[in-house]
Amino acid sequence: QQAPVSVTIDAAASGPRIDRNIFGQFAENLGTGIYGGVWVGEGSPIPNVRGIRTDVTSALRALKIPSVRWPGGCFADEYHWRDGIGPSRQRAVTVNGSWGNALEKNDFGTDEFFDFLDQIGSDAYISINMGSGSVKEAADWLAYMTADPGTTAGAERAANGHPKPYRVRFLGLGNESWSCGGAYRPDYYVDEMKRYARFVRNLNLEQQGTDNPAGGSVAGSAPMQRIAVGPGTPDTDYTEAVMKAWKAHDWSWSIEGLSMHNYTWVRWPPAYASTGFGEREYATLIQDTLKMEDMIRIHSAVMDKYDPDKKVPLVIDEWGVWLAKLPGSRDGFLHQQNSIRDAIIASINLNMFARHADRVRMTAIAQMVNVLQAMILTDGPKMVLTPTYHLFRMYVPFQDATRLPIAFDAGTYRFGTVAIPRVDAIAARAQDGKLWVALTNVDPGTPVRIDARIDGLAARTVTGTVLTADRVDAINSYDRPDAVMPRPIAASVRGGRIAVTLPPKSVAVLSVSP
Ligand code: AHR
Repeated sequence: QQAPVSVTIDAAASGPRIDRNIFGQFAENLGTGIYGGVWVGEGSPIPNVRGIRTDVTSALRALKIPSVRWPGGCFADEYHWRDGIGPSRQRAVTVNGSWGNALEKNDFGTDEFFDFLDQIGSDAYISINMGSGSVKEAADWLAYMTADPGTTAGAERAANGHPKPYRVRFLGLGNESWSCGGAYRPDYYVDEMKRYARFVRNLNLEQQGTDNPAGGSVAGSAPMQRIAVGPGTPDTDYTEAVMKAWKAHDWSWSIEGLSMHNYTWVRWPPAYASTGFGEREYATLIQDTLKMEDMIRIHSAVMDKYDPDKKVPLVIDEWGVWLAKLPGSRDGFLHQQNSIRDAIIASINLNMFARHADRVRMTAIAQMVNVLQAMILTDGPKMVLTPTYHLFRMYVPFQDATRLPIAFDAGTYRFGTVAIPRVDAIAARAQDGKLWVALTNVDPGTPVRIDARIDGLAARTVTGTVLTADRVDAINSYDRPDAVMPRPIAASVRGGRIAVTLPPKSVAVLSVSP
């Protein structure tokens, strides 16, 4: 039997806050992510509230999702918001050129999106169209969403049933403008971005401030944060250009976030299967996800040069496992299954974000329902929660918790040429004062015994759950929806030390109290 891994946690220390916005989500008008996955329409036999399916909203509510990014992605740069407001029979029918040339009936538009947010208790992260739109179109959209009903724009929203201005907490200034968002040179993007940052205003008086034209701080109200396009590869040209401009900004414009996209796919185009794979694919994908650490380090270094006080957060608003589409699913719909491997990958990424909590203060996993690394899969009336859903639910206590110092010898898991850390862990003090520890055993064949010493807390009770499975490719299907589920894990505490054994390929979350 292998010796236990020694872990030391300083429960009395104070560290950075793990911003709850790190647990954000992305939902694009893509495939069945919205249509079928969220929106079924009021006439549907699938139970719904004003067209939004109730099984999905009640599952999502439990994740305490801080924000949802919408309408894209690449789709955002060809989205014209007027197509999606007003009586549904009058809405434009268009083609989603980014994703499978699907018919876009625009049944799910701005008002439906805010209804959805209300139903799941989340904030809006709106991506505006900087590709095929204009500053005026984007400014008009923000006016529609946020202006007082006494204005023409606000009156139009009121006529559509929503007199109260919406709260737009985050505004994305374009999407992947180095590629599907217009293929702009960095300097060109920066010049354009400044116009959007200046003129696309949040007019919601509750969010407006005095020192920031897009809505600065006022007591009791979170201002809107504008998020500029940043990198999608280790290339730092966008990071340099945007951060250099930010450093020189004046009163007339600013940004409050820099976006970064980084997927786990090993190589493009994504070819790894989401079901029926073996340990080689398991190990290779987990190794690939560790590149997130390099991406954060490379781009944070550039940000530190211009912003040593870390005022501008790095917003990783697209991340996750991008695999081959499921056989039989439509091209461009990015429909894949989700296994215990993907949940382990999610834990490794969330742990990285927590370790970089001083700079990484917001992320959005791609995507929420039916697309890429989804929380939920649906097929007509059927719904299943994925292993990644359960992982996100287990991590809820880390939202806005204080990260604590944790030391351990990770060891190495090897398969073929892959050699990666075997154990991963984070610890935090939650708002309720409890100590929370997340422990990941990457090794799919060998359990790991943990001997954790907790300094600064007279630990007396420990409880926990563990997510694991019998196979590396274990999934939840409509027939076996509970195959990969969190279950209680036996852990003991004696003399301030916690003992627990992590099963192979597992993530455990423990709660420790005095
Ligand atoms: O998430 C799918 C796509 O990936 C997004 O639309 C785009 O921004 C990225 O390339």
